[in-house]
Amino acid sequence: VPKLRADYAPPAYAIKKVHLDFALGADETTVTADLAVEPWDAGARTGDARADLVLDGEELTLDALSIDGTPLEPSAYSHGPTSLTIRGAALPAGAFTLRTVVRTKPRLNTALSGLYYSGRMLCTQCEAEGFRRITFFLDRPDVMAVYSVRMAGPQAAMPVLLSNGNLLKAGVDEARDGPGSHFAEWADPFPKPSYLFALVAGALQHISSSYVTRSGRTVTLNIYSEPESVDALEYAMGALKRSMRWDEEVFGLEYDLDLFNIVAVSDFNMGAMENKGLNVFNTACVLARPWSATDADYERVEGVVAHEYFHNWTGNRVTCRDWFQLTLKEGLTVYRDQAFSADMSSEAVKRISDVRMLRARQFAEDASPLAHPIRPESYVAMDNFYTATVYEKGAEVIRMYAALLGKAGFRKGMDLYFKRHDGAAVTCDDFRKAMADANGRDLAQFEGWYTQPGTPTVHATWAHDAGARTFSLTLRQVPPAAAGASAPPLHVPVAFALLRADGSGEALGERVLELTEREATFTLNDVEGEVVPSILRGFSAPVHLVAQRTDAELAFLMAHETDAFNRWEAANALMTRVLLGAADAGARREPLGEVPAVLLDACRATLVERAADRSLQALALALPDFDTLSSSVEVVHPQPLCAAIGWLKKGLAAALKPELLSVYAQCAADDAATAAYSPDAESIGRRRLRDACLSYLSALDEADTTALCMQQLKGARCMTDALAAFSAASRVSGPARLEASAIFADKVKDDPLALDKWYRTRAAADVPSALSEVRELMSLPSFSLTNPNRVRAVVGAFTALNHKTFHKEDGSGYAFTAQCVIDLDKINPQVAARLARSFSAWRRLEPASGALMKAQLEQLQRTPGLSRNTLEIVNTSLQ
Ligand code: ARG
Ligand code: ZN
Repeated sequence: VPKLRADYAPPAYAIKKVHLDFALGADETTVTADLAVEPWDAGARTGDARADLVLDGEELTLDALSIDGTPLEPSAYSHGPTSLTIRGAALPAGAFTLRTVVRTKPRLNTALSGLYYSGRMLCTQCEAEGFRRITFFLDRPDVMAVYSVRMAGPQAAMPVLLSNGNLLKAGVDEARDGPGSHFAEWADPFPKPSYLFALVAGALQHISSSYVTRSGRTVTLNIYSEPESVDALEYAMGALKRSMRWDEEVFGLEYDLDLFNIVAVSDFNMGAMENKGLNVFNTACVLARPWSATDADYERVEGVVAHEYFHNWTGNRVTCRDWFQLTLKEGLTVYRDQAFSADMSSEAVKRISDVRMLRARQFAEDASPLAHPIRPESYVAMDNFYTATVYEKGAEVIRMYAALLGKAGFRKGMDLYFKRHDGAAVTCDDFRKAMADANGRDLAQFEGWYTQPGTPTVHATWAHDAGARTFSLTLRQVPPAAAGASAPPLHVPVAFALLRADGSGEALGERVLELTEREATFTLNDVEGEVVPSILRGFSAPVHLVAQRTDAELAFLMAHETDAFNRWEAANALMTRVLLGAADAGARREPLGEVPAVLLDACRATLVERAADRSLQALALALPDFDTLSSSVEVVHPQPLCAAIGWLKKGLAAALKPELLSVYAQCAADDAATAAYSPDAESIGRRRLRDACLSYLSALDEADTTALCMQQLKGARCMTDALAAFSAASRVSGPARLEASAIFADKVKDDPLALDKWYRTRAAADVPSALSEVRELMSLPSFSLTNPNRVRAVVGAFTALNHKTFHKEDGSGYAFTAQCVIDLDKINPQVAARLARSFSAWRRLEPASGALMKAQLEQLQRTPGLSRNTLEIVNTSLQ
């Protein structure tokens, strides 16, 4: 039965205080919970009719149950598979303390939700609904309580005992806890929802530092990991301090406890988790050392550390009333981490990378049966809604407030939001109202961004009247099919400028046009000379922009746009046009011909320019990806689309080989001239451009280009060097491919995260034997379905990156993936459900592939015992 947003009602009872006592064991843990319960709204209570107290609880063995010290009669309660109901008649009239004693089995918890065992530690993951797998509770975010924790466990196996907040006391009490045990007591003074609870116990090591906040509070910072990774924590520590400083400077927000702990965990369903004072991270999002992390990993670590830290205000101090409001904290926090990363490196590079990701993942989701508004209307399994739409489109929606209100206006809105709602569980409407009220604006129409699914299209046409010296821009918005043709128009900020047609800069500086009607014409006066419009600068709204531009105009914009995003966009649009044309030709079985000269010339110009920012150069040369291209056409022909991408890559490489070789050599020489590895923007740009060249060159599959790959691999000084070379070598047809694989495997065999990169590259390799190679990978001793990172590295990479084999005409790629979903679902429903999303594309595939994919969905639907997570994805995909 789905939960509906419209059905929100507060619970009958509040829980204001929680004391948890853990007797920890990897095989069995006993949890004694004392809950201070009271009627939700004591003032509004009338008479004696007391509501039942219905607590959530899953996979718990109930050992004892009492109220104010008196055990409950069996007739006073009932215990079902997902709940514990205490009859109203058995409850005292006012406040009372409920004690439950339960047992859980952490080692058997392969779903990695609740309390589980990973590596050599016990740890927790509670968001969204994991706390109910630890103890009985009103497991919903509007129930906020002050928590204290006593945890005891074997000193030898669990020397480190961590929970939220401040450490009150630690010691040994063998009389109470048993021989060899020790204990710790923690207290978190801030009321919080249960999803922010955390506990970690294990043989961890850590690094320590401190940070003095703006108002003078000294905060101890610790980052913990398993002993063999403790040398890979320094970068995250620096990122944490930069985040703390940035949030003070940009938003005036300070940290509020004396201690901030981070723990790195190897088995983790997602990236990381913002538990109050005790963030828990997937090792992949926190460990970084030159030999195991790439430049992109360093950037991700910095971004995720910032994201989780920023949640302390946007998520923890102000939290969500119910899970439909998830984007309230996630969209806002992604926006904040994006702004932070932009400030730490390059705004343009960050923006372009984020939009590429948005289009590849979120636009694709919007174009599928899984499309949903950033604030969903219903869900079956909440864990299925940690989506690109809630996160990335949610961040775009926040960015639009900033576009409409300006930086200062946005800050005013944030200040009012915290002033009004600190310590409360609130809604997206509350946020919108704070933004509106702080700026004296009416943002009623803006709600459409929260209610409509799908990506809107904005058509732009223009006319220049030289005599009257006016320029008029007409914008027309068309709602996406997912929202329905009659969906009301949205409030769309369109950043706009006029460029001089001679390439000498702007005739009219940037301004934000507000499109609120279905169609509107904006007329600009006193326009001198020939001009070219610059539209949707910085990608100011998450829409498909349709502006009919000739190839020559796009080439002009590539050279003369004053907005860095739009300059990149012009290159991207030109490549997209050529690729979609070639894919069409391929689908009609026509020859693909030659790469158009205008594109060759434009790419050559990009390549040879001595750009200030080599990352921008590399991005301008990056081909549009399969998923973005797929979401921009009506019918996807996977094989012709793959062929078109391969054709363009090879065609560009062949025509530009001399330039590619020389830019490669220049970047490689500059890199060799540097001493130690550094993940600063300039060094990253140099390696990024070098590796973009190598990737193109490897497409030629010639002896000298393959030799270059092998040379870079053998001479690699860091993981970025090695992985780029290994990936490039994985595209060649000769024996070098497996030779490179062996060299890389040897480098990474003792490092799980680096080994994941080997698995991922092998699983993504576009070779005829790909499917049998993937099966082989899964039979290796180091492969395991219980580790989400490894599963994503192999099966996830196969479905997301190996388009040719995943979409193989005989359906074998789909059948293989469906079997993986079934096997995985028994172990970890969250990860299985995510994998099942790869089938949601079926409706837009050409009929033969679509039917094969649909058949796998139907087979999954018939599979007995499928989890509700996976079943929800399957059912929605088939709808
Ligand atoms: N709140 C976490 C973050 O964004 C992610 C939690 C994801 N939970 C889940 N069940 N998928 O940092
Ligand atoms: Zn988050």
